[in-house]
Amino acid sequence: MRTKFPILLALAAQLAAAAVLMLVFYLGAAWFELRPSLVMTAVAQGLAAAALGHLFGLSRWWLLINLAFVPSLIALSAFKIPPWGYLVGFLLLLLLNWNTFAGGVPLYLTGEGTRKKLEEILNTRGPTFRFIDLGSGLAGTLCQLSRRYPQARFEGVETAPLVFMASWFRCLFQKNCRVRYRSLWKVDLSKYDIVYCFLSPVPMPELWKKARAEMKGKSLLVSNTFEVPGIAPKQVIELKDWRDSKILVWEL
Ligand SMILES: C[S@@+](CC[C@H](N)C(=O)[O-])C[C@H]1O[C@@H](n2cnc3c(N)ncnc32)[C@H](O)[C@@H]1O
Repeated sequence: MRTKFPILLALAAQLAAAAVLMLVFYLGAAWFELRPSLVMTAVAQGLAAAALGHLFGLSRWWLLINLAFVPSLIALSAFKIPPWGYLVGFLLLLLLNWNTFAGGVPLYLTGEGTRKKLEEILNTRGPTFRFIDLGSGLAGTLCQLSRRYPQARFEGVETAPLVFMASWFRCLFQKNCRVRYRSLWKVDLSKYDIVYCFLSPVPMPELWKKARAEMKGKSLLVSNTFEVPGIAPKQVIELKDWRDSKILVWEL
C-alpha cells in the first residue's frame, strides 16, 4: 500500500491493532481467564501496530514510531505530567512537524559523512557558486559549508516554524548564508548552481519536473538518498553508513 500520507496508514495500523487485541483479550479472558497488565497490553499494542504497519507497507522509521507510541504514553503517565504539559508537548511537536502531514517530509539531518562528500562535489566548482538547501532543517549543512566556502552564497528554505526560527538564528552571523521561511515549491531554482535536498520519496517526481523546467547551464541537483523514479543520476556516491545514505547527482 503506497500513500502520500503514511501517518494515516500508521493510525490505521494502531486502530486495527487495538481492535485485534480487544478481541484476543476478550476471548482470552473468557476462555483462559487471561488478565494482562497495563504494561503487557501496551507492549502488545506496540508490537501488533508495528507488525500491521509492516503489512501495510510502512517504512522502517514509521514501524519504530508505531512500536513505541502506546508504550511511551504509558511510560509518560508514570511521571504525573500535568494536562498542560501534554498540551505544550503537542504544540512543540506541531511547530516542529507543521509541514510533515501535507508534504510527507519529516525532519532528519544530513550526517557528517554526507557533508564531507558534498564538499568533494563543491570542490569541483569555482569559489563563487550559489547553493540552496531545499528544506534546510536546522541549517547544520548550510552553516558548515558556508564557513568552508566563504566566497560562495548559501541559502535555505524551511516551512516548519520552530525549525525555521532555530535555523534563522543560527545563520544570523554568517554573512554568506541565510534561511527564508518559504516553501521549496515557491523557489526559483534558476538562480542556483547547486540545488541540494534531503526530503523523502514523496516529492521527488514533482521536484524533478520543477528542476527540469527551471535549472540550466550545468547546474547540479543533488539528492541525499532519495531517487527520482526512472531517471538515472549522473553520479552516485554510496556512503555505507547505518542508514545506507547515498548522494545522487543529476546535471541539468
Ligand atoms: C529531512 S529534513 C533535511 C534537513 C536538512 N536539509 C539536512 O539535510 O540536514 C527535511 C526538511 O524539509 C522541510 N520541508 C518539508 N517540506 C518543505 C517545503 N515544502 N518547503 C520547505 N521546507 C520543507 C522539513 O520541515 C524538514 O526540516
